[in-house]
Amino acid sequence: MNERYSLAMDLNDKTVLVLGATGALGSLIATGLAQAGAAVLGTARTNDSAAHLPASLTQSLLLDLEDATSVQTLATYLAERPEPLDAVINAAGIVGFGTVESTTLADAARLMRVNHLAPAELISRLVPRLAESAAADRQPVVVGITGIVSEQAFAGMAAYVASKTAHAAWLRALALELRRSKVRVLDAHPGHTETGLSSRAVFGVAPNFPAGMTAEHVTQVIVASILADETALPSDRFVA
Ligand SMILES: NC(=O)c1ccc[n+]([C@@H]2O[C@H](COP(=O)([O-])OP(=O)(O)OC[C@H]3O[C@@H](n4cnc5c(N)ncnc54)[C@H](OP(=O)(O)O)[C@@H]3O)[C@@H](O)[C@H]2O)c1
Repeated sequence: MNERYSLAMDLNDKTVLVLGATGALGSLIATGLAQAGAAVLGTARTNDSAAHLPASLTQSLLLDLEDATSVQTLATYLAERPEPLDAVINAAGIVGFGTVESTTLADAARLMRVNHLAPAELISRLVPRLAESAAADRQPVVVGITGIVSEQAFAGMAAYVASKTAHAAWLRALALELRRSKVRVLDAHPGHTETGLSSRAVFGVAPNFPAGMTAEHVTQVIVASILADETALPSDRFVA
């Protein structure tokens, strides 16, 4: 049990899946949830990046959201895995920068696929597992990190803003659909965070952002919100 969080959701004996568990936020969230008692399954995009998975994972998995076969393979494995599945945390994502007129359709489609369509497809396939968890009173939750861009647009980031806004809207609809079956949906909206994400842009070059929040602070707010059974995490909740 982790003493840093005031608990409402009990993670002991729960199994959570963290997509993008190699990333700055994903690895810290996976570790925080493991410290709170969960068995954590975490995904890496490649065998090479799997070296960045945290040691706290119960199981390491491969998932490339740009590869339809990879998404289907993981969905089938998790759908058929006999153990319960109680949470899906999507901490995977990519960013690209450029004006509307300079951004190609291929680049915009890549962001839409990785940030919205592929995780939406995977989560959709896992809804029956989450409904089983709910039926057993295990308090299941789906967590997105769409960020402040789903509240507010930024120039030079139209493709990223569009992909994240699409996913935020999809999560809102999912929350409505799953309310009766008692599957919680939580979408976190942190602002700029010093994870190095913008330096890994898949196209374009990041503008000079003002100093962002630390990954540790953003993780603490997200994990506390998961444990506190919350259903919204707007950007102002991350302001220290
Ligand atoms: N940093 C910020 O300012 C900020 C603010 C708001 C929201 N967010 C969101 O928070 C999430 C985590 O971002 P971060 O800052 O922690 O960035 P990060 O350290 O770069 O992590 C990105 C993660 O996404 C995974 N990923 C990338 N492409 C993938 C693909 N095709 N298939 C599967 N996984 C893939 C990476 O996996 P590999 O390492 O295996 O390649 C990595 O685990 C993202 O969705 C991001 O948009 C970030």
